[in-house]
Amino acid sequence: MRKNIVAGNWKMNTNLQDGLALAKGLNEALKGKDINCDVILGTPFTHIASVVDAVDANKIGVAAQNCADKVSGAYTGEVSAEMVASTGAKYVILGHSERRAYYHETPAILKDKVNLALANNLTPIFCIGEVLAERESNKHFDIVKYQISESLFELSAEDFSKIVLAYEPVWAIGTGKTATAEQAQEMHAFIRKTLVEKYGEDIANNTSILYGGSANASNAKELFSNPDVDGGLIGGASLSVENFMPVIEAF
Ligand code: 13P
Repeated sequence: MRKNIVAGNWKMNTNLQDGLALAKGLNEALKGKDINCDVILGTPFTHIASVVDAVDANKIGVAAQNCADKVSGAYTGEVSAEMVASTGAKYVILGHSERRAYYHETPAILKDKVNLALANNLTPIFCIGEVLAERESNKHFDIVKYQISESLFELSAEDFSKIVLAYEPVWAIGTGKTATAEQAQEMHAFIRKTLVEKYGEDIANNTSILYGGSANASNAKELFSNPDVDGGLIGGASLSVENFMPVIEAF
């Protein structure tokens, strides 16, 4: 059965020292606790290796927030999936709306990134989600289906079964305006139905679909109680132990 997952996305926050202190603080807070979900920290590239070393790998997995769409070579400033994997990170967040909007990452580019992540045994946490105008014009289901199918539907069933999805409505990210539990459940059920049609019941039922967008201690329980919401991808509320622990404990 699919896993419950609470993943933090630190985005471009914390210097190395502060990030390491945050990871160690969370590691301490999780000691001796019976947690009902996998916990992942998506840190900046510069922090990954240190965070991997600092935390108990049985309790906390580490994710990059991006990787290159090329294998290796003359791509100044890029970080390959192989490099990410060599740090001990097990996950990579791909297709975040901030990458799509500000760095022009297209479905085709993201397909290459997903393939390279999988080739290097990284689990992609693949983000999808509509902007407000798309929801207001009732295009949100089509957009999300397009994002998934363009980047992921050439994967074999075996490879697709390694993907984690994160539905992040762009209008809810960093705005304090969370999707309602009904809106989240409605979209997650639609996503799962889309997966059933392509890969069948088994794979669809085993795929974790996380919700992201202003999720925090006060709404996590309600969001996670929906049958098709298998956890969260948490931005702002993952930046302190005090705010992140209650989200983890919402399971
Ligand atoms: P916030 O939780 O800050 O809204 O960010 C969500 C997000 O983008 C996680 O990837």
